[in-house]
Amino acid sequence: MDPEKERIEYLRRELHRHNYNYYVANSPEIGDKEFDMLMKELEALEAEHPEMYDPNSPTQRVGSDLSTGFEQVRHIYPMLSLANTYSIDDVEAWFKRVDEALSGQDVTIVGEMKFDGSGISLIYEHGKLVRAVTRGDGEVGDVVTDNIRTIKSIPLQLQGSGWPDFFEIRGEVLLPWAAFDRLNAERAEAGEPLFANPRNAAAGTMKLLNPAEVAHRGLDAYLYYLLGDNLPYDNHYDNMMAARSWGFKVSDAMTCLHSIDEVDKYINYWDKARKTLPVATDGLVFKVNSLRQQLNLGFTAKSPRWAVAYKFAAERALTRLRFVSFDVGRMGIITPVANLEPVLLSGTVVKRASMHNEDIMRTLDIHEDDMLYVEKGGEIIPKITGVEISERTPGAPPVSFVSHCPACGARLVRVEGEAAWVCPNKEGCVPQIVGRIEHFVGRHMMNIDGIGEETAAALFAHGFIRNVADLYDLTAMQLMTIEGFGAKSAERVIAGIEASKEVPFERVVFALSIPFVGETTARKVARAAKNIDTLMSMPTEQLEAIEDVGSRIAASIANFFADEQNKRMVERLRVAGLKMEVAVASESQPLSDTLAGKTFVISGVFAKHSREEYKSLIERHGGKNSGSISKKTDYVLAGENMGPAKLEKANKLGIPVISEDDFLRMTGE
Ligand code: IVH
Repeated sequence: MDPEKERIEYLRRELHRHNYNYYVANSPEIGDKEFDMLMKELEALEAEHPEMYDPNSPTQRVGSDLSTGFEQVRHIYPMLSLANTYSIDDVEAWFKRVDEALSGQDVTIVGEMKFDGSGISLIYEHGKLVRAVTRGDGEVGDVVTDNIRTIKSIPLQLQGSGWPDFFEIRGEVLLPWAAFDRLNAERAEAGEPLFANPRNAAAGTMKLLNPAEVAHRGLDAYLYYLLGDNLPYDNHYDNMMAARSWGFKVSDAMTCLHSIDEVDKYINYWDKARKTLPVATDGLVFKVNSLRQQLNLGFTAKSPRWAVAYKFAAERALTRLRFVSFDVGRMGIITPVANLEPVLLSGTVVKRASMHNEDIMRTLDIHEDDMLYVEKGGEIIPKITGVEISERTPGAPPVSFVSHCPACGARLVRVEGEAAWVCPNKEGCVPQIVGRIEHFVGRHMMNIDGIGEETAAALFAHGFIRNVADLYDLTAMQLMTIEGFGAKSAERVIAGIEASKEVPFERVVFALSIPFVGETTARKVARAAKNIDTLMSMPTEQLEAIEDVGSRIAASIANFFADEQNKRMVERLRVAGLKMEVAVASESQPLSDTLAGKTFVISGVFAKHSREEYKSLIERHGGKNSGSISKKTDYVLAGENMGPAKLEKANKLGIPVISEDDFLRMTGE
């Protein structure tokens, strides 16, 4: 027998045996790494010998713990965040806005806990869990189904009745306090680093490559959001109670509230009572109950208007100031940062805390050596909220703001009406240039891989790049003079730069680093102006007429394009071949790369578009069509009367079957 084939059979036997030892007998003979190597070897050999295909090969096992990474999928509905509030007044203001927007209708609010774990999206088809996806960046997440299956409180097969054939349910994966403490005790004993808090522990656990280890850690999950086309009720609360009857864990704290008074009482009660819960919470969430009202209220770019989070008051710590440093951002803004004696705050060690700007720093009136109060409000970055005057060293001088840029020495300027001091040396100040290059190449901008902070700094230090336009003159030879770059990685960066010439105009505008112009604003501005020449010559009044653009943003855009250096840079980008106008949609023109790498099978009859139109839409969004369902299929787009054989096949392979509404939402059509 061919020695390679013999090796395949040997590896299969060995891997089956090791699997058994690990999962069943619980006495592995080899480590994960060795196991992975055997598996990789088998995968490679099987790829060379397709005639040896065997569905029972260890490489084919669903739920294999051996993948070296996770497959990524796009969420059917993006996973948005919630607008945060920090006071009862803010919640009341939200309630008022909701009330006004729904002019006079009765509004019921659902109050629930804000669980502090890791968000998860679960897809069920015909009562079975088929897929679990992490939040990821909100658009695309990691498929962690095998890990999630180990969470005993997540039903793999639903009970009861009334569940839609296809639906999504979202919730939070958590490591309960008790399990968290046990895990950290084990880690301490094993001399491994401890987890700072249950949230980090839960997120880390979900991404483990070994479901057996996941199972051991004792994750739990609370569900709080049902999505789909055929939900049983027209309101959130009843749907969640139905989900509870199907076997999901829905918190007992979930309650209907009928007035702002009841909302206040709920907040006051849980502010204390939450400390007795077995899991970490960082606030409460209030949601408009009626789905019809939710639809009326809609979403902002980031979060639903029909919901709001109330964050519990932050924990506070007191620690000593070591010194104040001044960070320089990509826009040249100088941020004073308090460097502190390390202190533990809500589970993490804090060493640095921002003081935002000179005014805030002055109001705090910080003196050298002061004892400072640090809080971790809703933001990840802790902030200084006060000074303990009683502990001030007598005679300690106040800390003053710098007058010159700590990076390049330029004299700082202050824009009228703004709190920030800015370093004006745009073309010569390293952190600004490096920051702008980093922003420019980012995934949501020009999407050029392989240039991180270090590379950007090295490119500048070598004199290859002074502004982003220089990227388009960069050569592979130049890149190869930078440490860590070989011919291959250099070629890859050059190819990425070349490919960025196809990035739509909307993203080019975002990539330019115009102060105050974020992703959404950039898109709106680009679409309103249609091309760069119009945009560059738009007077502020015209800019202000664009949705979401106020006087501050309008002035910032006008200033940006009035600057000679910026004008020259834009001109060079145009000459380099970047898209400088919005694409005109035509019947065959690409619309997005939302479905890139995804294969669809269409089946059945549709109401909103013809089959041909759906096929074309799939392609124009970067996806592929295929005639038959196989392992390679990512989605089945099902209309009325989809054949039962196809449905069964899709179910068997765990391929999501989506409706035309799902599809249209997915593509933003
Ligand atoms: S609802 C569209 N309800 O908080 C709104 N989220 O900042 C969907 N979270 O990503 C979210 N408890 O991971 C909702 N009861 C709750 C929640 C909750 C925790 C998390 C969730 C979300 C984040 C939003």
